[in-house]
Amino acid sequence: MPLTPGAPDVGLLDNLARLSHRVVAPRRIAVLVLAVLLAAGIQAGVGAAPVLAVPPGGTAAADILVIGHRGASGYRPEHTIAAYDLAIRMGADYIEPDLVSTKDGVLVARHENEISGTTNVADHPEFAARKTTKLIDGVSLTGWFTEDFTLAELKTLRAIERIPDIRQQNTIYNGRFQVPTLQEVIDLALSRGVGIYPETKHPTYFDSIGLSLEEPLVAALRANDLDDASDEVFVQSFETTNLRELNRLINVPLVQLIAGSGAPYDLVARGIPVTYNSMVTRRGVAVIATYADGIGPDKNRVIPRDAAGFLLEPTALVNNAHNVGLVVHPYTFRAENTFLPADFRSSDDPAEYGDLIGELHLFFSVGVDGVFTDNPDIAVYARAIFQPAAAA
Ligand code: G3P
Ligand code: CA
Repeated sequence: MPLTPGAPDVGLLDNLARLSHRVVAPRRIAVLVLAVLLAAGIQAGVGAAPVLAVPPGGTAAADILVIGHRGASGYRPEHTIAAYDLAIRMGADYIEPDLVSTKDGVLVARHENEISGTTNVADHPEFAARKTTKLIDGVSLTGWFTEDFTLAELKTLRAIERIPDIRQQNTIYNGRFQVPTLQEVIDLALSRGVGIYPETKHPTYFDSIGLSLEEPLVAALRANDLDDASDEVFVQSFETTNLRELNRLINVPLVQLIAGSGAPYDLVARGIPVTYNSMVTRRGVAVIATYADGIGPDKNRVIPRDAAGFLLEPTALVNNAHNVGLVVHPYTFRAENTFLPADFRSSDDPAEYGDLIGELHLFFSVGVDGVFTDNPDIAVYARAIFQPAAAA
C-alpha cells in the first residue's frame, strides 16, 4: 500500500524475508518459513500492539455496542446526515460511514463507489455522459462512480432509498439529503458524543487509480484528534493489507470484516489463497489478532442457517475470537422478515417486521460484543431488557 514509508507495496513478507536472511537463518529456511506464513495468511508480523481486548468474562450485556449501520438506515436513506442523526437520537453508540473517494480525493460516505442505487444521479442529464462500465474487485459494474465526480459535483446529487420495495416509507425522503463527507460525519459524531466506525470500501481498487483511501482517512482522524483514541473510533475493512498498514500508523481499534463467503480482494489480487472460511478458524483468528482488535463477521458465521433459513447451532467463532482477545461485532441486524432467520419471521411478507428483538437476544446470549444494525432503537431496547441467564 502506498502508506508504507519508502516501500510501496513491498509487504511484510518481503520484509520478513530480508530480516530472516540477515539475522536468523539461511535463505532456504527463510523461504520455507515464509511459505508457511503465506499459507496462513500472515503478511505482516509486526506493528502496534492491539489497543483493545475482550474484557475478562466477555462484554457485559449493558455494554454491548449498538452500531448504527449506515446510520439508522431502516428509517432513512442510508449514509445521510439524516440517517446518522436519527441513529444518534435512537441511542446508537457508534455511527458507521462506509467510505469511498471523490475525483478530488475527498472521502464521502457511500456503500459503493457506483452510486446509481443510492443517489438520483441518473436524473441529472449533465452527468449522463459519465455513465460507464468498470471492473471493481473483479466484478463488471455499469453506472456512475464517485471517483469520476468532484466533491462539488457530488454535492449536487441527492440520496435515494436503496431498497424501496422493502422500505417504501423511506422513499418519502428521496431527493432531500446530500452525500456527506467523512468530515461532516465526524463533526456530527463529535458534537453529539458518539463514536464513528468507518469502513474503507474497495481499498485495493482505489489504490489502483491513485486515490488511496488510507491517507485521507488517517489525515482526517489526526486532524480531529481521533488517531489515538480507543473508545471513539473503530476502523473496519473486508481487506487485510490496509488494516495492517493502519495498524502501524494509528492507534485505534481495527476490525477485520469477514464475509459469508469469498476472500479479501487484496489477497485475491495478489494470488494469496486465503479465504474468509480460513479466517474464522482458530488459526485464522490468531492471525487476525496480530494486526486487529476485533472481527466483524457476517452474522451467519456466528449462528449459521440451514437451507430453509432456520438457525443451526452457534459456531465456535465467538469463543475462538475471544480467546485471542478479539471483540466480535457481527453484521447486519435488520427488522424486516426478509433479513431475519426463519425462526424470527412474522409472516411471508418480506417487508413486514419480525422479531428482531428475539434474534438480537439470541446473539447476545452467544456472547457478541456489539452489533451492526439498521434499527438502533430496537437494538438499544433489546439490550436494555436482555437477561443473560434467561436467554441462554
Ligand atoms: O461493516 C459492517 C457491515 O457494514 C459490512 O457490510 O456491506 O453493509 O458494509 P456492508
Ligand atoms: Ca459497512
